[in-house]
Amino acid sequence: MSFDVAAEAYDAFMGRFSVPLAELFADEARLPHEGRALDVGCGTGALTGVLAHRFGETEVAGVDPSASFVDAAAARFPWADLRHGTAEALPFDDDVFAATLAELVVHFMTDATAGAREMVRVTRPGGVVAACVWDFARGRAPQSRFFEALRAVKADIDDESERFGAREHDLTTLLQDAGCLDVTGSELTVSVPFADFAEWWAPYTRGVSPAGAQLAALPPEDRERVRRHAHAAMGDGPFTVVATAWAARGIAP
Ligand SMILES: C[S@@+](CC[C@H](N)C(=O)[O-])C[C@H]1O[C@@H](n2cnc3c(N)ncnc32)[C@H](O)[C@@H]1O
Repeated sequence: MSFDVAAEAYDAFMGRFSVPLAELFADEARLPHEGRALDVGCGTGALTGVLAHRFGETEVAGVDPSASFVDAAAARFPWADLRHGTAEALPFDDDVFAATLAELVVHFMTDATAGAREMVRVTRPGGVVAACVWDFARGRAPQSRFFEALRAVKADIDDESERFGAREHDLTTLLQDAGCLDVTGSELTVSVPFADFAEWWAPYTRGVSPAGAQLAALPPEDRERVRRHAHAAMGDGPFTVVATAWAARGIAP
């Protein structure tokens, strides 16, 4: 899968956005003041670190199917309980977490309904369950400008907009259907500065996520055409990329 890549490549790509998003997401989740917290699809630990600040280092757990990401997160947060696994079959007992969050993960789950039910199962009654996903559907993701350039070269692309979670109400519906109470939805917006076009472009060439994987699959001349389309659209820089995610939060029954 497109997340079996070096953690450093992910951090230079999506980490630029997911680290500031994690602070906003944790605020929006209105977390309890004590207990344990679980970061589902923890990746390299963007949200894990934020949860550790709020719950305490030894109170944080995470799970991710990417071995390289779990290893990187474990090196970064050796005190956290980080496990290899998926949202659809969380390797944790029932009712153990005060908060269970998934940042930028629902759209990658093979079965989001099962993943949400699992998040509820491991959360104690009254605990918080929350998820967020970039607004790919309205072109407000960090990669949206990249996908426009990719589409100019190749018609049939996965711009992630058809994935569940990328549309308004997907996540609130998901949590409601999983049995959560008092479900609310919101939008989270981050702004990330780039010194120049090269700094913005380079992470796309590392094969990370559907964006990087699709670029890597093109012949070199088409990759160069995508780069030129993107450069014409973005300019030389410096510029700031503004990205917005859908978020939903509910209470475990
Ligand atoms: C865009 S990254 C988000 C990582 C991290 N939460 C962050 O905000 O930086 C998506 C993550 O979801 C993980 N993932 C993919 N499928 C998953 C699944 N079925 N269950 C849990 N995590 C999954 C990937 O390995 C990857 O680490």
